[in-house]
Amino acid sequence: MEKNLIVNKKSLSNVVCEFEIYEPLIAASAKAGQFIILRYGELGERVPVTLVDWNEQKGTITAIIQSIGKSTAVFNSLKVGDKFTSLAGPLGTPVEIKNYGTCVVVGGGVGIAEVYPIAKALKQAGNKVISILGARTKDLVILQEKMQQVSDEIIITTDDGSLGQKGLVTDAIKTLHDKGVKIDVGFIIGPIPMMKWTAKLMTQLGIKPYASLNPIMLDGTGMCGCCRVVVNGQTKFACVDGPMFEATNIDFDNLIARTSEYKEQEKESFLKHEKDHKCKIGLH
Ligand SMILES: Cc1cc2nc3c(=O)[nH]c(=O)nc-3n(C[C@H](O)[C@H](O)[C@H](O)COP(=O)(O)OP(=O)(O)OC[C@H]3O[C@@H](n4cnc5c(N)ncnc54)[C@H](O)[C@@H]3O)c2cc1C
Ligand code: FES
Repeated sequence: MEKNLIVNKKSLSNVVCEFEIYEPLIAASAKAGQFIILRYGELGERVPVTLVDWNEQKGTITAIIQSIGKSTAVFNSLKVGDKFTSLAGPLGTPVEIKNYGTCVVVGGGVGIAEVYPIAKALKQAGNKVISILGARTKDLVILQEKMQQVSDEIIITTDDGSLGQKGLVTDAIKTLHDKGVKIDVGFIIGPIPMMKWTAKLMTQLGIKPYASLNPIMLDGTGMCGCCRVVVNGQTKFACVDGPMFEATNIDFDNLIARTSEYKEQEKESFLKHEKDHKCKIGLH
């Protein structure tokens, strides 16, 4: 079988697809918290995507991709039998997995997929794992069954109350705290404002927070400096020093500003892609 080949694909929602890709070397060495960089097409952009799962025997890795712009829309249009043009990894520093005691893992939107390998590894290491899955609405709550398998308790929150509790992940954390549940550590992956407020709350409640940062990345190997983030007043490169960092002193506002820098160009590129795509559909 050829490397980078898509051997399985399924839709998890109308904007999220799960891919199983043949990549035996990465499948043999992946660790929780690491990521890959995918590219499709000779001029395609390099896109960082989390290693959600891997199967050493089959030689496959699993990536879950939410379509939010041009490149992710192109990826999610690929089919079984297509091949990514390039795939680099495993990249990033793995999350430190040990017995912390009681861990809360918090995933927001596609962040649920990204937090899954961490929840799985924490459970295997003997921790009590409480998973909190948050999304705007029920269709965006993904991997419920898989998360259930690696969690002692699972709490779902949706902004509109269409599934689980109505509210935010922070409400669920407050409720656990008010019930007297002692939580030692929290791992948060999701939209930046969600990570910011969840980390702040955890710090106030005496829970040590970790958050996985998603700045724009290029090489993913510490060379370009694109992925600079500020942690404890120091500049770090998310691709090699992270992407997971102790979150009490992350400068999330700086991260929000840096990830918004190319909004106009991203929008233009997506609209052009949509237009070209529709024109091609019109030809058939
Ligand atoms: C370590 C890491 C792991 C990630 N894991 C996943 C995952 O498992 N599944 C998933 O769906 N997404 C993941 N992402 C986010 C994903 O890389 C971006 O959604 C993607 O790059 C957007 O590209 P686009 O062309 O479709 O959208 P664009 O139009 O380029 O951008 C849309 C949004 O994505 C952000 N973005 C753009 N380029 C990058 C980039 N190179 N790196 C990070 N963010 C970017 C922009 O700030 C913007 O807000 C991860 C990001 C990082 C850094
Ligand atoms: S992506 Fe280039 S240094 Fe991190």
